[in-house]
Amino acid sequence: MADIQNGDSCSSSPLELFERVTAQGEKVRSLKAGKASTDEIDAAVKLLLSLKVTYKTATGQDYKAGSPPVDFSPVSNNGPTTTQDEDFVDPWTVQTASAKGVDYDKLIVRFGSSKIDKELINRIERVTGKTPHHFLRRGIFFSHRDMNQILDAYENKKHFYLYTGRGPSSEAMHLGHLIPFIFTKWLQEIFNVPLVIQLTDDEKYLWKDLTIEKAYDYAIENAKDIIACGFDINKTFIFSDLDYLGMSSGYYKNVVKVQKHVTFNQVKGIFGFTDSDCIGKISFPAIQAAPSFSSSFPQIFKDKKDIQCLIPCAIDQDPYFRMTRDVAPRIGYLKPALLHSVFFPALQGAQTKMSASDPNSSIFLTDTPKQIKTKINKHAFSGGKDTIEEHRKYGGNCEVDVSYMYLTFFLEDDDKLEQMKQAYSSGALLTGELKKVLIETLQPLIAAHQQRRKQITDEMVKQFMTPRKLAFDF
Ligand code: TYM
Repeated sequence: MADIQNGDSCSSSPLELFERVTAQGEKVRSLKAGKASTDEIDAAVKLLLSLKVTYKTATGQDYKAGSPPVDFSPVSNNGPTTTQDEDFVDPWTVQTASAKGVDYDKLIVRFGSSKIDKELINRIERVTGKTPHHFLRRGIFFSHRDMNQILDAYENKKHFYLYTGRGPSSEAMHLGHLIPFIFTKWLQEIFNVPLVIQLTDDEKYLWKDLTIEKAYDYAIENAKDIIACGFDINKTFIFSDLDYLGMSSGYYKNVVKVQKHVTFNQVKGIFGFTDSDCIGKISFPAIQAAPSFSSSFPQIFKDKKDIQCLIPCAIDQDPYFRMTRDVAPRIGYLKPALLHSVFFPALQGAQTKMSASDPNSSIFLTDTPKQIKTKINKHAFSGGKDTIEEHRKYGGNCEVDVSYMYLTFFLEDDDKLEQMKQAYSSGALLTGELKKVLIETLQPLIAAHQQRRKQITDEMVKQFMTPRKLAFDF
C-alpha cells in the first residue's frame, strides 16, 4: 500500500500501472499456492484491488490480464466521464474548445504527471539558492515527472544532464519555441550541467513535404536561433539526427534497444499511427527516446550509463517520454525526469498553440518591428468588450486575452504585470493600450534576439555540433 499512499502511483504511466497490477496478481497467486497466512494474502489482495482502481482511474479501462492498455497515452483529453471538453493534445496538434486554453489540471491527471506546486518551487529555490524563474513562479512550467529525484541528485552532488530538442520544420522559429529554450538556459546556468539538444531533421523529413537536404538546412538555421538564446558552448552539444546517428557508437545501439521493447500496438496507441503510416514514422519515437540515456553520448559521459536526464519541453512532447520511461527500466536505464510547460497560444486565441505551420498564428523570430505591431494589432484575440463604454463599465477578461497571456510569458516585472491585470480587468486599460504594452515588450526582445543571431558564425555552429567532450569530467 505504501506506493499508493506516497503518491508514487500518481506519477506512473498506465503501462507501468498495468505491469504493477500484473505483478501484484502474480504475487497473490503465489502466496495462495504457497499457503501463506490469511493476513498476508488479505493484505496482498487489498493492494491488488487498490492498484486496479488506480489503473482504472488512470486509463478509463478495467484491468484485463494479458491486455496492456493500447491507448495508454491518450491523445484526447476527454476522459470517459466528460463529454463536453474536447481538449486534444499530441506532438502535432493542440486543440481545445475553451478560449481559456487547455485544461492543464485535467491533462496532468490524464497524462499521469505531477503538478509543480509551491513546495517543489520552494525546494528548487532552497537547493539552488536562486530565485525561481518567472516561468515557474507563474505556472508556465506547470507539470513534472521525478523532479524531486533530480534535486536529490543535485543535493548529493551526483551528476545529471539536460536534454531538449527542436523539429526543424521551417527556417524561422516562432516565439512559442523560445519557451523551452529560455527555460533550459536558465536550468543550465543554475545547475551547471551538460546539455544536449536534438534537432530532429529526420522527423521533419518523414512528416513533412521536405527533402532531406532542406530538413538538414533548417536544422542548421534553427541551431543558430537556439545558440542565440545564450547557451554555453563548453557545456552544450547540439546535434542533427541525420548527422549524429551515423557517427555515434552509443546512440544507435540505444535506438535499437528501445525499438526492440516497444510494440507496433503500443506506438499506435500512443501516437495514433495507422497501418498506412510509413515505417519511418513508426520507428521514429525510439530516435527521440535515445538521447534520454547518457550512453548515447560516450564523448560526453564516457562509459557512464547511469547519469540521469532531465527534459524541459512543452507538454505536447510528453507521449515520447512516457514511452521512454516505460522502456528505460527494461533496458537497464534510469527513467528521464521531465519539466512540462503550457503552450504559448496562437494569436487568434488559446484554443490552439502557436504553430509554425500556420504563419498567421505566429510571431516569428525573424519578424520586423512593423510586422510584430501589425500582427498583434490585427490578430491578437482580445478579451475586451465591444465598445469603450462597455469596457470601461465591465472591464476586460484577462483569462482569454491573448495579449495579456503573452505578457505573462515575456513581461518579467511581476509588479507591472499585476498592474496591467488590475487595470485591464477594471476597464481602466483598453485593449489597444494593452496591445501597445505587448508590442513594446516584444519588439526589443525580438530585435535583441536577431542581433545575437547575427553574431553567430558558421564556425560557431560547427563547434556546437561537433561530438566532443564538454567541460565536465565523467
Ligand atoms: P518542436 O519543434 O515542435 O518544438 C520545439 C520545442 O518547443 C515546444 N513548443 C512550444 N512550447 C510552447 N508553446 C508552443 N506553442 C510550442 N510549440 C512547440 C515543444 O514542446 C518543444 O519543446 N519532436 C520535437 C523535437 C524534439 C524534442 C526533444 C523536444 C526532439 N527531442 C526533446 C523536446 C525535448 C519537435 O518537433 O519539437
